[in-house]
Amino acid sequence: MVTAAQLLAEIDRARLAREAGPLPRRTHVLLSYDTARFPFAAALGRDVFKVHRIDRLHEYLQQQRARQGGARRLSARDNVMVRAMMASQPEDAIFWRLYHGFMLSVLAPLVGRGISYTSHPKLRIHLSGTSSVSSFHHDICVTKRPDQINFWLPFTDVDGTATLWLESDYGEEISPPCPCATGRC
Ligand SMILES: [Fe+2]
Repeated sequence: MVTAAQLLAEIDRARLAREAGPLPRRTHVLLSYDTARFPFAAALGRDVFKVHRIDRLHEYLQQQRARQGGARRLSARDNVMVRAMMASQPEDAIFWRLYHGFMLSVLAPLVGRGISYTSHPKLRIHLSGTSSVSSFHHDICVTKRPDQINFWLPFTDVDGTATLWLESDYGEEISPPCPCATGRC
């Protein structure tokens, strides 16, 4: 089995930089990728949550609670619990291999130069019916990194109040919801 470290060692970042196109000038851009090549949702459903559809995870949890006689209402604690399940996968899990493959073969060439990226990105699950995980903010105020590009990769279709709301341009203070289908980033 090829490890993430071996995958990383084979990457020539200087070559990626040479081959890169112009830097992005927009606040965000939606990219498409092949979900057959990168089946993130299927891997999580099969290996972590043991469910067919991770977009129905909240329903499975509610049914489980009902069987155990507990309250069906889900909370932020449930979000943390399922997030921990997703983040604690072993290093050689299919999910992480998909992630590194995605970063190196899909995203790195688009960034426009050699990149470094986190081996363990922040994974979040926002179960239906639970409150928002954060208020409006500028990531740059948190990271202090003007050179950092954030990739947001939903594993389910998202829209309306169940998606990120992104400022339409820097300083505009108009932030419509950003619908995003599986297979886009
Ligand atoms: Fe953020």
